[in-house]
Amino acid sequence: MTVGIDDIAIYIPRLFLDARDFAEARGMDPDKLQRGLGISKMAIVDTNQDPACMAANACLRIMQRDNMSPKDIGRLYVATESSLDESKAMNSYVIGMLEQVYGEGSFEHCGGIECKFACVSGSYALYDNSNWIRAGEADEKSAIVVVSDIAKYDLGSSGEYTQGAGAVAMLVNDKPRLLEFDPKVTSTSIKNEYDFYRPFGKETPIVHGQYSNLLYLIQVKKALMAYKEKALATGLIKPKEGETILDHIDFLNMHLPYSNMGKKALAYLLRHEWRKLPRWKKIIEKIGMEEPTPKDPRGTIESVLADTDFMTKDHEFTKKFTKTEEFQETYDAKLSSSLIASQMIGNLYTASLYLGLRSSLEFEFQKGTNLEGKRVGFGSYGSGSSAMVFSGVILPRYKEIVKDMNLEAEIGNRVKLSLEEYEEIHENKRSPQENFLESKKEFILVDVENAPESRGERRYVYNG
Ligand code: HMG
Repeated sequence: MTVGIDDIAIYIPRLFLDARDFAEARGMDPDKLQRGLGISKMAIVDTNQDPACMAANACLRIMQRDNMSPKDIGRLYVATESSLDESKAMNSYVIGMLEQVYGEGSFEHCGGIECKFACVSGSYALYDNSNWIRAGEADEKSAIVVVSDIAKYDLGSSGEYTQGAGAVAMLVNDKPRLLEFDPKVTSTSIKNEYDFYRPFGKETPIVHGQYSNLLYLIQVKKALMAYKEKALATGLIKPKEGETILDHIDFLNMHLPYSNMGKKALAYLLRHEWRKLPRWKKIIEKIGMEEPTPKDPRGTIESVLADTDFMTKDHEFTKKFTKTEEFQETYDAKLSSSLIASQMIGNLYTASLYLGLRSSLEFEFQKGTNLEGKRVGFGSYGSGSSAMVFSGVILPRYKEIVKDMNLEAEIGNRVKLSLEEYEEIHENKRSPQENFLESKKEFILVDVENAPESRGERRYVYNG
């Protein structure tokens, strides 16, 4: 049975913070953000927007574009780590908003929950909904999986330049036009970790930045190894002598907390896969140094990070590796197009991976690449921590979807915030009514109740 992504829609807030302005205001070298991390703009939510209305806006876009009515949808799952309530799922707000357009009770047959596991939960939601369809429970209906988040860090922290916001809605069914998931190869890794977490009541996360970078790489590698075992055992991928499974994955989409993390992950995974192959000898000759190993190769992440001699040499090795023709070719062909949207928008937590997919499709199509039959690999990571690696193949009808993709047009006219305006929003100094932008044909937040008996009730309207 074919199961996969039929269509994909995005909602990105129009307000943004320019990385150069930000760096100057914080006394940083703008090149660190633009070249070092690959960040040029960060999308910021207006005072009358929240993760629920971004999710509803993305759902509405996909339903309207595909002429769907609520009876075509059997499940609506929301994956987010920007939860609005300890108990009430974000789905109910989203359904409430959609019913303002489609009619009261129009979604009452539809099931769904809010899923949480930092940035990886959207991938779990996609997998679970695909299996709902595979199990024959869908009754010809589609599922919508919507991922929506606001990446918000403390002012002045090193996470502050990796913020962003947005939502991606994906229509999943058994007649997909875009991408079919490869069956029986989805693989995961999981471990109790404190790389990035947000205790109850705290609006911003506690982050151990360098630890999180390395943990991400290790967890994704573990999931990739499990994927490899399954891909070989099922015969999905049959590498020839001297090849790796990565040679058989045409495009890679990695979780992108910032766009250069994708490049870091590619370098890490290629090093792992290529070092056992004949091609590595030539690459080592070009790099001109042996691959460094930590003093304690079986040590912890902390011991590796504290091994400054290793870290310096490893950094130098990676830099040289990423300049080789072999790396560059792979980077240009498999990854680079997926990073463009992240540079323009920032981290979207759960939605980052899927914005990357969106970006890869749009910009590869613009380059004139024939995408039909191409295998896309996904490296999903969520702090705390879990990774999921899976893959899919682009279907013959993909052009029907991809031809109309236009990131800039879909975001609409973007409006740059001054540092002062951004900080007012960040510190919640404005009420929902003190919004910066007028909106049309979208859901907005108009009020959050404060009275004890209705505290936290949120009111949304559709600005038709
Ligand atoms: P940092 O310490 O500010 O930056 O933290 P850095 O010192 O690592 O520098 C970054 C890069 O800029 C380096 O390049 C520097 O060399 C370069 P690299 O060595 O990596 O290739 N650089 C420059 N380049 C040009 N000109 C310059 C210059 N100066 C330096 N002048 C960090 C960066 C990402 C750690 C920080 O921003 C942070 O803590 N962010 C939040 C956490 C995060 O994003 N972690 C990523 C992995 S965990 C994850 O992805 C999960 C997450 O999405 C949450 C979830 O799952 O829910 C976060």
